[in-house]
Amino acid sequence: MMKPQEKIVAPVALVEVKKKGVKCPELVRGFRDVLPEEQWFWNRVEEVARDITKSYGFGRIRLPVLEFATLFERSAGKDSDVVTKEMYVFEDPAGDRVALRPEGTAQVARAYIEHGMVNVPQPVKLWYIESFFRHDRPQFGRYRQLAQLGLEALGSAEPIIDAQVILMAHRFYRTLGVETIIHINSLGTPSSRRDYIVELVNYFRGHKNKLSELDKRRLQKNPLRLLDSKEPGMAELKGGAPQIVNYLDAESKAHFMKVLEYLDEAEVPYVLDPHLVRGLDYYTHTIFEAFVAEPKTEEMKGLALGGGGRYDGLVPMLGGRENTCAMGAGLGIDRTILAMKQAGVYQPSEEKKVDVFFCQLGDAARRKGLAVFEKMRAGGIVCAEAFGKGSLKAQLEIADKLKSKLTLILGQKEVLDGTVIIRDMDSGAQEIVDVTKVVGILARRLVAKTKLSLVEQTALDAENEENGIVVKKEEPKKEEKKVEAPARVEKKRKLFGRSR
Ligand code: HAM
Repeated sequence: MMKPQEKIVAPVALVEVKKKGVKCPELVRGFRDVLPEEQWFWNRVEEVARDITKSYGFGRIRLPVLEFATLFERSAGKDSDVVTKEMYVFEDPAGDRVALRPEGTAQVARAYIEHGMVNVPQPVKLWYIESFFRHDRPQFGRYRQLAQLGLEALGSAEPIIDAQVILMAHRFYRTLGVETIIHINSLGTPSSRRDYIVELVNYFRGHKNKLSELDKRRLQKNPLRLLDSKEPGMAELKGGAPQIVNYLDAESKAHFMKVLEYLDEAEVPYVLDPHLVRGLDYYTHTIFEAFVAEPKTEEMKGLALGGGGRYDGLVPMLGGRENTCAMGAGLGIDRTILAMKQAGVYQPSEEKKVDVFFCQLGDAARRKGLAVFEKMRAGGIVCAEAFGKGSLKAQLEIADKLKSKLTLILGQKEVLDGTVIIRDMDSGAQEIVDVTKVVGILARRLVAKTKLSLVEQTALDAENEENGIVVKKEEPKKEEKKVEAPARVEKKRKLFGRSR
């Protein structure tokens, strides 16, 4: 069954609601609702994601929520935090061990193999915005359902691809109003990494008495993770630890140098971070994380907004073609939005523009009103209503607040007569019109209230005349220059010859 459930012994939390004795199940810890007032941020992030990925030639992929658990166990690593502690694993009704996806890279690698993408021009560039699930300890910027913008470029070993993905991440944050600094390191190849791990273990074994119980376990199971340990006293110990860049083979060094050169060229701000290791086993060569450049709070300081790197061994390890190299990034959307808010990025105040507000009085009017409102909406009129309100006064107040140009009033009498009242909210003038023609009339009144073209003005004049409405018009200005009639011009030409 679902692994983390073993720890949940208490029954589902219940919230007491107003009705005595009735309790509503609470949100599951670490999960959130995103309410309407938050939507602008999510939409903005998605809009920028779409623009950036389009301009760099990435195609969208939508990934399933569920995969076989072995996909992540094999890719992220059996000893990684994601697999050992955070994955929601359970047996489905058919008895298969499945997992709620904790990350997207393994999924994209699986899709690349499954759909034979190796046969199309390389690199295959894919992006996704998806939710992932990790049974992490909930805290600021750490949720159990998190969203990421994923960028994955598969089928190229070129260092320029590494730089391009990092540049895209940096551009993404900058466009959203967040300045970031990239922390970058190289893990080299699996063999140079192995040599390095031997040295690292030797170093920390020499200081074993200074390690916490957690770090002692890391030393045994996943020594690279010691480098991002936040345990007390570790900062000093880490300072003296061997650095991986000194264990890179010549090819890995050259690759890394090239990536840095490209980043310099593209003016992406970065710092070399010898302690950066990342928590997933599939990485090789370049790895990076993006942090807010000038964090305003302590909480924001250590929070990676996104991260990624090269994963040259993943596709072959999952059964794909040998030497299929790849590079990617996962940009955390929840944290990006926190950073946008801290950077003072606010939703631009968008004045809700309503052209027509619909008021109804009484049951019959409300019934008929639904159809009238639908006709207006289908006719392209920006309209609003308050079907929940009964009094005209309350409805007109809302119309006023929404700054609607016109109000439509439908009462019992109008329903019987097949009419409806149009009220001009500026002048207060009212007219009664045939309800079947109201959409066309409203459209013309709205045009008249803004700017009229000559054709529209003529149509409106004709209609007003037909309805007996007299509109006071300005006299057109007299032409100053006299235009001569063609016959007179011809006569002149005969008298004075052709003019030059
Ligand atoms: P990751 O570092 O595990 O990488 O996650 C990427 C980003 O997702 C993090 O930097 C963070 O912003 C966000 N994130 C992770 N966990 C949480 C959480 N519990 N709550 C809120 N945000 C979170 C990956 O997932 C890789 N698949 C990235 C990648 C793509 N590498 C290559 N391609």
